[in-house]
Amino acid sequence: MLDHLKETDHGTPRRESEIEVTLEIDGNLVTVPKGTSLMRAAVDAGIQVPKLCATDSLEPFGSCRLCLVEIDGRKGFPASCTTPAEPGMKVRTQTPKLQELRKGVMELYISDHPLDCLTCSANGNCELQDMAGVTGLRNVRYGFDGANHLQSEKDESNPYFTYDASKCIVCNRCVRACEETQGTFALTISGRGFESRVSPGMDEPFMESECVSCGACVEACPTATLQEKSVIWLGQPEHSAITTCAYCGVGCGFKAEMKGNEVVRMVPWKDGAANDGHSCVKGRFAWGYATHTDRITTPMIRKKITDPWQAVSWEEAIGYAASEFKRIQAKHGRDSIGGIVSSRCSNEEGYLVQKLVRAAFGNNNVDTCARVCHSPTGYGLKQTLGESAGTQTFRSVEQADVILVMGANPTDGHPVFASRMKKRLREGAKLIVIDPRKIDIVKSPHIKAAHHLQLRPGTNVAVVTALAHVIATEGLMAEAFIAERCDDKSFSEWRAFVSRPENSPEATEATTGVPAAQMRAAARLYATGGNSAIYYGLGVTEHSQGSTTVMGIANLAMCTGNVGREGVGVNPLRGQNNVQGSCDIGSFPHELPGYRHVSDTTVRNEFEAAWGVTLQSEPGLRIPNMFDAAIDGTFMGLYCEGEDIVQSDPDTQHVAHALEAMECIVVQDLFLNETAKYAHVFLPGSSFLEKDGTFTNAERRISRVRKVMPPKAQYADWEVTMLLSNALGYPMNYKHPKEIMAEIAALTPTFAGVSYELIDKLGSVQWPCNAAAPNGTPTMHIDQFVRGKGKFIITQYVASDEKVTRRFPLLLTTGRILSQYNVGAQTRRTENNQWHSEDRLEIHPVDAEDRGITDGDWVGIQSRAGDTVLRAVVSERMQPGVVYTTFHFPESGANVITTDNSDWATNCPEYKVTAVQVMPVSQPSDWQREFSRFDKVQADLLQQRHAAEVVGR
Ligand code: SF4
Ligand code: SF4
Ligand code: SF4
Ligand code: FES
Repeated sequence: MLDHLKETDHGTPRRESEIEVTLEIDGNLVTVPKGTSLMRAAVDAGIQVPKLCATDSLEPFGSCRLCLVEIDGRKGFPASCTTPAEPGMKVRTQTPKLQELRKGVMELYISDHPLDCLTCSANGNCELQDMAGVTGLRNVRYGFDGANHLQSEKDESNPYFTYDASKCIVCNRCVRACEETQGTFALTISGRGFESRVSPGMDEPFMESECVSCGACVEACPTATLQEKSVIWLGQPEHSAITTCAYCGVGCGFKAEMKGNEVVRMVPWKDGAANDGHSCVKGRFAWGYATHTDRITTPMIRKKITDPWQAVSWEEAIGYAASEFKRIQAKHGRDSIGGIVSSRCSNEEGYLVQKLVRAAFGNNNVDTCARVCHSPTGYGLKQTLGESAGTQTFRSVEQADVILVMGANPTDGHPVFASRMKKRLREGAKLIVIDPRKIDIVKSPHIKAAHHLQLRPGTNVAVVTALAHVIATEGLMAEAFIAERCDDKSFSEWRAFVSRPENSPEATEATTGVPAAQMRAAARLYATGGNSAIYYGLGVTEHSQGSTTVMGIANLAMCTGNVGREGVGVNPLRGQNNVQGSCDIGSFPHELPGYRHVSDTTVRNEFEAAWGVTLQSEPGLRIPNMFDAAIDGTFMGLYCEGEDIVQSDPDTQHVAHALEAMECIVVQDLFLNETAKYAHVFLPGSSFLEKDGTFTNAERRISRVRKVMPPKAQYADWEVTMLLSNALGYPMNYKHPKEIMAEIAALTPTFAGVSYELIDKLGSVQWPCNAAAPNGTPTMHIDQFVRGKGKFIITQYVASDEKVTRRFPLLLTTGRILSQYNVGAQTRRTENNQWHSEDRLEIHPVDAEDRGITDGDWVGIQSRAGDTVLRAVVSERMQPGVVYTTFHFPESGANVITTDNSDWATNCPEYKVTAVQVMPVSQPSDWQREFSRFDKVQADLLQQRHAAEVVGR
């Protein structure tokens, strides 16, 4: 591999210690923290000790015996990877004796290794090859005729990597990576001595084992034994760029390793602060969608959605969209159009869309898909703590003693963070899970939740209030913290409220379904177990009382003093890559960038001066209001960038009716998604590989996205928004997204210090970043809350309107799984389908038996909003009375069933609670039949565009 693609491997992990140790290595004095290995100390002194079984992401194992050293006053040849540095040691890493021993070790390895270096996929990037060179191995005395493993079979079952056992040197790095880094424990070394071999599960192929295809073992493997198939096909990369995963809110840093404009592989970036060199199957392997043949790279227009698409030039498409928007505004008024930006887009793209809406459309009708996921987080944390964001870094979990996971399924939704969390749990931290389902983390290898509060969906508020009741009435509150940091009046009122008998675990047990004793034990553990950190997800926010639960969570953290230092805090696990960012940069209809209300005249004046326009002082329409207004005939035009509202928003049929009612829908996307089937203008989007920009992850960490290939459709998304704005008569002339970030920084106090230069220098930066925090803010609310005094808010439980009845006796809750992502537009176009190729309905055995349902049966699911048909998975993970599905496949119609109930404060839909009936069926639902028909019609209309293009040439 080219040297600039390699990163220094220190051999063993960094050790933290106040105590320093000075020693001499090959005559060089070096000082390291106590506990550092000799191998790592040598690297610090600029000396590379030969090694094979050691790598700095894993604890040393000491098996290869290549890293031997001599130490004055010590007998023998200790392994430098497992020997800690001690004061005054004198170490030699290069002596004739060591050279001879190392050569001997290498001889043994090479005598049982296929010597096909020239045709091996790892040629140029193989540590065994490097060590043969380093040790000066010139011949192998044992010959190659003895017993060997050269005929071992390859396991090619995983779609992304192969396991070629003939090349395995049994260094154990893969096994340790799976245990230590990923925490899945899928690999073992089976057999002994000569027979020892790496084996997934019970000697199964990778795909049949517990393996979740995170790639940690592939990354750790020093040979071509575990190798990416893309490298086998394309060869070693020749250049790379650091970028950020475009999937979930963990925001993992990656090196896009390239050959020309082609991605050879995505390698997790060791210095990525969010992931520390780890990855999951999506970011690591599922990037093939970016070059999928389904991508539409020519702009298209049509007058009606029943017309065939016409492929047109960019100029024509933009001109048509602009003239339609102007026509609609002239006919229906200025507020009759709006825009939606996706949290999959970059900060710069989101900023431009909201600027386009506010400055060029002249209204505040802009919203983002964060509306349907974490808008209650923004609202709830702002009210209580004063800032609409999580309080910690991911690394902070390494200091946590008690981890409370509520309404989140990190092993599926935020896998790299889950691995970090699991590591801390294996070290002894205690786990409380609050979730209706027995999610994986409740019990997984070497992890068992101390308490799993398996609540009834929709009763989150009653649970957080009952936990607070125990803490308040059993004297477990952090009185000094509260007195110093929190608002007295709101605290007294809150204490009186939660202490009421009706809020006790005993009184609420019948509602929540959580046994009172378990609730009390969990509350005591959270309040008294040391550093307690809360991590929560959409199982908290996507409820009619989502904002109330978020505030209840903040109350819990404040009343126990678990805010403002490492290891504690309130941490929303954001779903998409840039949910935090899209909220930060003003994508909500009521807020300008930096969460400042549009009614604030001072703030509005600043933006008016900078943008040269007059801004509306009233909030614009939220997404659901846009739909209602469309049906009422007052909202007639929509610019939708990167979001598939038809598939992702609740009550699909209502959304579809709204879109049918509009006169001009402009969709900017990679694919002709479900929303684009209702569109009149299609503007091709660009993938994260085709543009520069930034994403902000769940830790408020702003990281760079870097262009590694030209946009397939000529323009990056931010350029398309500019074209549209210019065509509407509002000039935008940015040359590069860094200029957009400079404008955001100039207008947003919390971003004041953010620049591409700073991000390049630091790798990433967590806002607030300004004069007070020039390098960003890892932990928030350290000395005081952003709002001054922390404010307790009363969390009165109000049952959802969505209730089980005789007609709809089960509660449906939704979520996602590891291999697919959101509406699946990206992951469905990758080999990730091999893990999950359809949405299924999980149902408890008792409910299944009552209905005569067995595993794999087709079942109809009906709610008051609609019905659909899926296959059943009978699973003890569910509790009786609750069913569950994912929403990754459009034909499943999971959101045909979800209702229009929403959070009282933010309109975030109540995806997590829908009363349904489930029955065995033998054919698709009416909606599914209509979906198939419409899908075919739209595919034909797209096909006709292709035909027209060919004829036209
Ligand atoms: S890909 Fe990940 S889960 Fe699978 S065996 Fe390797 S380390 Fe373990
Ligand atoms: S597969 Fe690779 S990492 Fe695992 S033991 Fe073999 S050589 Fe080492
Ligand atoms: S955890 Fe999230 S950000 Fe990291 S690689 Fe997986 S999908 Fe990407
Ligand atoms: S690197 Fe130290 S024993 Fe293998």
